[in-house]
Amino acid sequence: MKLRDPLHEIEIFERNPPGVTFGWGVVFSDLTVDNITANDPTSAKIITEEFAHWDDIDVHFRGETITSGGHGFIGIGRKRLLEILCDRARELGVALHFEAECHPADPKWRSYDLVIASDGANSRFRDADPQAFGVDIDVRANKFVWLGTSKVFDAFTFAFEETEHGWIWAHAYRFAADCSTFIVECSEETWRSFGFDKMTQEESIAACEALFGKYLDGHELQSNATHLVGSAAWLNFRRIKCERWTSGNVILLGDAAHTAHFSIGSGTKLALEDAIKLADVLNRKGLSLEAALDEYQAERNLEVLKLQNSARNSTEWFETLERYTHFEPLQFAYSLLTRSQRISHENLRLRDREWLEGVERWFWKRATAGKSNKTAPPMFAPFKLREMEVQNRVVVSPMDMYSAVDGTPNDFHFVHYGERALGGAGLVFTEMTCVSPEGRISPGCTGMWNADQVAAWKRIVDFVHANSKAKICLQLGHSGAKGSTKLGWEEDNAPLSDGNWPVMAPSDVRWSPVNQVPNPMTRADMDEVRDQFVAAVRMGLEAGFDMIELHAAHGYLLSAFITPLQNKRTDEYGGSLENRLRYPLEVFAAMRAAWPSDKPMSVRISATDWAGENGITPEDAVEIGEAFAREGADLIDVSAGQTWAGQQPVYGRMFQTPFSDRVRNEGKLATMAVGNIYEPDHANSILAAGRADLVALARPHLVDPFWTLRAAAQLDYRDVHVPPQYLNGMSQLARNLKREAEAAAALRV
Ligand SMILES: Cc1cc2nc3c(=O)[nH]c(=O)nc-3n(C[C@H](O)[C@H](O)[C@H](O)COP(=O)(O)OP(=O)(O)OC[C@H]3O[C@@H](n4cnc5c(N)ncnc54)[C@H](O)[C@@H]3O)c2cc1C
Ligand SMILES: Cc1cc2nc3c(=O)[nH]c(=O)nc-3n(C[C@H](O)[C@H](O)[C@H](O)COP(=O)(O)O)c2cc1C
Repeated sequence: MKLRDPLHEIEIFERNPPGVTFGWGVVFSDLTVDNITANDPTSAKIITEEFAHWDDIDVHFRGETITSGGHGFIGIGRKRLLEILCDRARELGVALHFEAECHPADPKWRSYDLVIASDGANSRFRDADPQAFGVDIDVRANKFVWLGTSKVFDAFTFAFEETEHGWIWAHAYRFAADCSTFIVECSEETWRSFGFDKMTQEESIAACEALFGKYLDGHELQSNATHLVGSAAWLNFRRIKCERWTSGNVILLGDAAHTAHFSIGSGTKLALEDAIKLADVLNRKGLSLEAALDEYQAERNLEVLKLQNSARNSTEWFETLERYTHFEPLQFAYSLLTRSQRISHENLRLRDREWLEGVERWFWKRATAGKSNKTAPPMFAPFKLREMEVQNRVVVSPMDMYSAVDGTPNDFHFVHYGERALGGAGLVFTEMTCVSPEGRISPGCTGMWNADQVAAWKRIVDFVHANSKAKICLQLGHSGAKGSTKLGWEEDNAPLSDGNWPVMAPSDVRWSPVNQVPNPMTRADMDEVRDQFVAAVRMGLEAGFDMIELHAAHGYLLSAFITPLQNKRTDEYGGSLENRLRYPLEVFAAMRAAWPSDKPMSVRISATDWAGENGITPEDAVEIGEAFAREGADLIDVSAGQTWAGQQPVYGRMFQTPFSDRVRNEGKLATMAVGNIYEPDHANSILAAGRADLVALARPHLVDPFWTLRAAAQLDYRDVHVPPQYLNGMSQLARNLKREAEAAAALRV
């Protein structure tokens, strides 16, 4: 403010004496430094001169140290940063009042034009009227303690230790020539089991020194949280969000308004950037105070939400650490580095090519049982399910084309599926193919209940096998209460204008007020539908399919049995999850018995109803996946939602992948991830981090059947199968893309 207009009168009130602060060092990215430089080159110069700089991250796990480089961190002590900023403020004429405890109720605040409450995560000014600010606080599960040490770490260090009480780990980094931050974290269960809850601060520190002794080389751990006694030195991170940042003449800034988990080290950056933006808008000519504060909140809140999103992924990774501790050290480190989804596969290649290529070699070795030592993108590695081997990990996700007549696929389907198989994906799924005329979603859905359909599908399957290396999987389903509706592009889930047929479901719960009330299924109905699924499996075999998927997601018949939002039965098929799964499992088991044992089967599930605890949760999804696996499912196709009309999904890049990650790594099952995966980089990051075994793309394949071949050209991967007719185009595309990339790189230089 003073830099922009020296006439501003600014006063700062701080409860601590000068030079006293809680915590140790903070880390910044280069971008934050650029922001500070643009705002005040004088402060930035001093700060950058004093930065500790390092590139490597060391991950210590199960006796191995995995080092990756190129991460470019800079760190500085909190105390030193405050000193630099205080000196500069003083020099510019800001009045600093130390040891000045502030109380929101004090009438003196009314005489100020603006009171900037940057009083930290425990902000009194915010908590004096939480409703006015719309405060939302999420207390996270793990315990952590923020310590310091004179041991100088050369790399940003993550040290994971397995103990009889569970896993405990440290995040350590140097922030000055002779000082490092050392944060110890563990689950609450481990914390209690260690007895940290009953220890004094000194005892806790001694216990941590003993635990991490091998990393400390005889240096001590220290705390400067002298105001916290006993176990209170251990905190639970509190994620703070505020709907409104202004009330009266008070405006929130920094941790008072929002926090981002320390594992992504961005809280100080956010606070500094808030301050820069606030000063900008307050000094913009012609902008009223109200408009200035609105702009401040709107722009900063967007940045904060993006960061909080990444921070949530990172927080959850540490909270669910044991999901990944069965990984080999290299994959564990990769998973750690990509945990927030902000750092991707190609991003890691830019940081440390050699290390990333090591990960790729490791991936290929595992994918080929040691036969290949290739350094190539994970998406092109083969994958085996029973005796079926797919040439790569890209899958054309099932997509209803609503273009069949009487359930029989036609020339549209022939071209559509044929073209997608030529496009290079390892596995092509059919759309949901219905087991009976009444089991269709719309009159345009394909079916598998008569000989004409078998013949039409066989023509497609034969083409795929003769002209591509793709495998083809038949997805079988029954629409349940979502049946008898219009074509997808007409009106989603709306009943037909005329010619509706009666629909059945587990209970008489209709999809929406405009849909029919379904007939609750009798046991005789259940027998009939199960037998229809089995008959369709036999026809699928006759048509030559490589694989069968049971569609038990998205609110259709079998999914409706699984979700408590649609299944209100009081017999042995309703109530507990075990009961709700009984019929879908019975159908699956009967299908499995009819399908050859050397051929694989998958199940598509909705891993959440997006209805909180009232519906299926990701935790249930693990149980559901395990239950199908016990019946012989080789792959769980992890989709989400569409199980009730009121769902509240949280969309974003790769938004359903965390569910696949959970089912795969908690259930120890093979999974396929789907949902807004659209770049080769997404696919490679998901696969290398062990979040799925296959990646399915739906909409990207609608507009680009050749998505896989394009990705191969982009990544300069030569071993993909290209139909000979198209070889010429492929090499031309690869050359052009390479030339473009080189030109772009030259421009950056
Ligand atoms: C373990 C841990 C590690 C972290 N590591 C990093 C990192 O590496 N990089 C990073 O960018 N961020 C990191 N952070 C986050 C960072 O510390 C905060 O986001 C940042 O300090 C927020 O700045 P602030 O000015 O909003 O609040 P604070 O730094 O909390 O400052 C608030 C100030 O207000 C004073 N105060 C509060 N109430 C009153 C009152 N009533 N009267 C007078 N004075 C008062 C306090 O004494 C304090 O000086 C970490 C946080 C934790 C917990
Ligand atoms: C036009 C269209 C039709 C779909 N039909 C089906 C289907 O028949 N069976 C199914 O399981 N999912 C179906 N889906 C869902 C997709 O398989 C996929 O899960 C979803 O679109 C998210 O992936 P995306 O972001 O890559 O599109 C359909 C999606 C689209 C866009």
